Parts: sequence; C-alpha cells; structure tokens
Amino acid sequence: MGFATDCIHVGQEPDPSTGAIVPPVYQTSTYVQEGVGKHKGYDYARTAHPNRRALERCVAKLEGGDAAYVFSSGMAAIDAVFRLLRPGDHVIVSQAVYGGVFRLTTQLLVEFGLSFDFVDTSDLNTIERALQPATKMIYVETPTNPTMLITDIAAVAELARAHNLTLVVDNTFLSPYLQRPLELGAHIVVHSMTKYLNGHSDCTGGAVVLTRREDAERIYFIQRSAGTGLAPMDCWLVARGIKTLPVRMEQHCKNGLAVAEFLEKHPKVKRVLYPGLKSHPQYEVARRQQRGPGAMLSFDLGTLEAAQRMLENVKLCALAESLGGVETLISLPALMTHASVPAAVRQRIGITDGLVRLSVGIEDAEDLIADLDQALAKV
Ligand SMILES: Cc1ncc(COP(=O)(O)O)c(C=O)c1O
Repeated sequence: MGFATDCIHVGQEPDPSTGAIVPPVYQTSTYVQEGVGKHKGYDYARTAHPNRRALERCVAKLEGGDAAYVFSSGMAAIDAVFRLLRPGDHVIVSQAVYGGVFRLTTQLLVEFGLSFDFVDTSDLNTIERALQPATKMIYVETPTNPTMLITDIAAVAELARAHNLTLVVDNTFLSPYLQRPLELGAHIVVHSMTKYLNGHSDCTGGAVVLTRREDAERIYFIQRSAGTGLAPMDCWLVARGIKTLPVRMEQHCKNGLAVAEFLEKHPKVKRVLYPGLKSHPQYEVARRQQRGPGAMLSFDLGTLEAAQRMLENVKLCALAESLGGVETLISLPALMTHASVPAAVRQRIGITDGLVRLSVGIEDAEDLIADLDQALAKV
C-alpha cells in the first residue's frame, strides 16, 4: 500500500467487538486474567497496551523499520537509544543537536561512563577525525536545529558500516513523509512525535524505530523496565494526527518555501537558513535525500535586540518553544530551546543571538507573511 494509505489504516483497524471505525482508547492500567498468567496478550499497561502496540506498528511501517517503540517524549526515546551502550563507549553527535540532547548527554549520561563528541556531521572528514577505538555510535540530526545543516545520511551510513558503528538519525524535523533514513542505511531512527507525527501540539511522545532484532529486544526491555512507554490517550492522539501527515507535510512545505522566499528578499533579514532555497549550501544534498524541504527555517536579524523586538510584535505567529504543529511558532533559540548550550558553544556552531527560528504552520501563507512583515517593520 502507499504511504498515505498506511497512515490511515496501519494500526487503525476498526474495533472487532463493536465495529467502531476508530479504535477505542484502552484507558486501563491492568487486564483481568482468565487463569494465572493466562491473558489476551496484555497484563499491565506499563508493559504494553493495545493503543501503544497499534501506534508502534504504524510508526514502524511508515519509517520502513522492523519494529518501533513509542515513549512518553522524544527525550525518553533518545535516552533509551543511548542505553544500548555500555560504560566506556563513545558517541559522535551532530554539533548543533537539539538542546535537550546536549543536556542529557553532557550533564547526565557522562556520569554513567559514556563520552560524547559534538562535530559537524555534514562534513565526513570531521566525523572521521573524531573516531576513537571506543566509538560505537554516530548520532545525527538532519536538518540540524536551528542551523539547518544537512548531513548526507547515505555517506555517513557507509562510514558507519566501514567502522562497525550504529548510525542513529533523529528524523523529527522532516517526518517519514519527507525523509526515510533507514532506506539510506541508518540502523535506528528516533522521533519527537510531539512534533510533525502528531502535528496538533496536544501531547508529547517519542519513537524509536529499529532494523535489528537485538536492538529491538533491548529497547523493549528498557521501555518496560523504566516505564517510559506512551500512555493510551496520547497514543490515540498521535495515531489520529498521523492520519493527515501527508497532506499536512505537503502544505507545510509550500508555506515554508513561501515564507523563506519572502524573508530572503527582506532588507532587515541578514540571511535565511532553509534547505528549500538555492542559497542553502547543501541545497543539492537536501534535494537528493528529502522529498521536500520541510517547514523549519531560521533567519538572522543581526542582534538580540532586533530579534526580541520582532518576537514581541508578531500577532499570528505564536511565541513558543516546540515545532511541527499546524500553527506557526516562532522562537529565539539562544534564549529558549538552546539556552542550555553554553554561549561560547552557541557562537561557534552558528546559533547567533539574532537568530530567529520559525516552525511554519499550515495557515494561509499570505496571513503569515503579512504578520512577519508588520513585525519586521517594528525592528
Ligand atoms: C529535533 C528534536 N529531537 C528531539 C526533541 C525532544 O523531544 P520531546 O520534546 O518530545 O522530548 C526535540 C524537541 O524539541 C527536537 O526538536
């Protein structure tokens, strides 16, 4: 079946006991057993429940994986992936990774004997230089947040294969509709389902999609041991959101391009970072590995004051963290999503004080452009 059909039907079969076209929310913590250890596949909701199993089937199918596990947030999913490692192991991470991943790795996981190097994964030579005998994993975010650098997934997968490393790709910014890292050679995909997969900004969620049986067994063990699986109602919400993923992503891409082109021509904007613009340094790589440019973009207003003034004057765009919802969100990475990254590191990796990030929603593009235009006039 095609991708859109899978979005609507995989894990969304009508309820056999009532005929309800939408499967119910199994809002229960435990399941009655016919005899000791004799049950219908579920005994306790931390371990598994029907809404989670259904969503996991759907997400695995959409990413082209063999198995998927869904978690209470993207960070819970990412934490589970790093727990596949052992003390002493080393990981190479994209340098402008989401601030929460930077915090998890540098402030928490290092205390358990893991080590991390943050490098520009869009440059293969830089990755090779960072390799150590203890390196076990490469963790890539592409495009990066909020610098919009693209990593060539197939090329890094080749390098990972040559050195027997696990390649993990965070596919949050594009969703499986626009990018399928497993087909390009990655071993594991992670998602913050809080973003495009759900698409409606009404719950958090994370996913790990796997290709190797031993990884899948270990991730499920971690999920049920740590109790980080996604709750029934939240699984139901994400599953509902996924049904419209293809149409939402098409509109996100159209609006993203329209807004990026407007900003690129605006005299107060120093530069626009968006993989759908020909001015993007990795425009060709993005075209090759992505079905569309997505709707995340950043633009530089030069100073913190200019950026703050703009953010205080938008009316339709909402000043908020997060991304990937139907509504347009605007944020200032240096003071918001990436505040946990030290200022010197932010400067080095291009998260300047005047950099504004937009998650372009699916409102009418003219209304978004009019709002940005009036806010820029006040800068
Ligand atoms: C690219 C990316 N990965 C992971 C996460 C973490 O996801 P969550 O907020 O659902 O824990 C985020 C959150 O913003 C993100 O932007």
